[in-house]
Amino acid sequence: MDIISARDLTVGYGRTEILRDLAFGIPEGRITVVLGVSGSGKTTLLKTLAGLLPPLAGEFDFAGSRVDYGSEASLRFLYGKIGVLYQGGALLNGLSLSENVALPVRMHYPGMPEGMVRDMVHASLAQVEMAASADKYPSELSGGMRKRGALARALVLDPDLVFCDEPSSGLDPITSSLLDDLLLRLKETFKMTLVVVTHELRSIERVADRVLVVNDGGLHFSGKYADLAAADDEFIRTFFLRKDRHDDA
Ligand SMILES: Nc1ncnc2c1ncn2[C@@H]1O[C@H](COP(=O)(O)OP(=O)(O)O)[C@@H](O)[C@H]1O
Ligand SMILES: [Mg+2]
Repeated sequence: MDIISARDLTVGYGRTEILRDLAFGIPEGRITVVLGVSGSGKTTLLKTLAGLLPPLAGEFDFAGSRVDYGSEASLRFLYGKIGVLYQGGALLNGLSLSENVALPVRMHYPGMPEGMVRDMVHASLAQVEMAASADKYPSELSGGMRKRGALARALVLDPDLVFCDEPSSGLDPITSSLLDDLLLRLKETFKMTLVVVTHELRSIERVADRVLVVNDGGLHFSGKYADLAAADDEFIRTFFLRKDRHDDA
């Protein structure tokens, strides 16, 4: 079963189409990795699927119903079921970690009693093993901890689907591999669906069940990671060769 399915989906800004006529599914309970060079439209696609940027054409379903950008109820439903770890993933510096993580709860459930907000914040910090740092400020945390804190903020509404836009950018290989462990645990223990944009070959090998490859305004591949190597596509071959050299350098 696909938690998202897109048909004839064109994403972009105003009159500028970035990716055209996309058709793909995001299977439930799996990790789908989105690949493509910088500027190819990965973030634009994620923003559209996350209810933040209306499609220029076409449509997509979430959990079996069409996402209607004209309907507040439709978008609210979507926002309640997804979490987003934004590219850069910044926590707000003026707020403690727990206050940062509480933000989506306060936005989605205004007026929720403080005790309940605290419980939700604690649960999501525990999911990323950051409960002990709840009262710290972002400046007191390491890069990897900040990233896990931002992930906790994405998890606080107990989403079915989490979008992670380049979660390991700026992290050293060990911290980045710990973050991959965490993503795998969200899938395996909490049965979440994840859509992860990443460039790192090691990370792709470890976490990807499925792959979407975007390039040059369109979708080059959508399918199982295991089938990617056999894809007869010039762009995919050069992407992986280039990445190999990059990683070994
Ligand atoms: N807010 C925006 N308005 C107009 N164009 C944008 C905006 N954000 C990004 N773009 C353009 O859309 C293209 C794809 O960007 P993006 O989705 O961020 O790529 P990626 O995430 O793959 O690096 C780029 O050419 C970028 O300049
Ligand atoms: Mg991006």
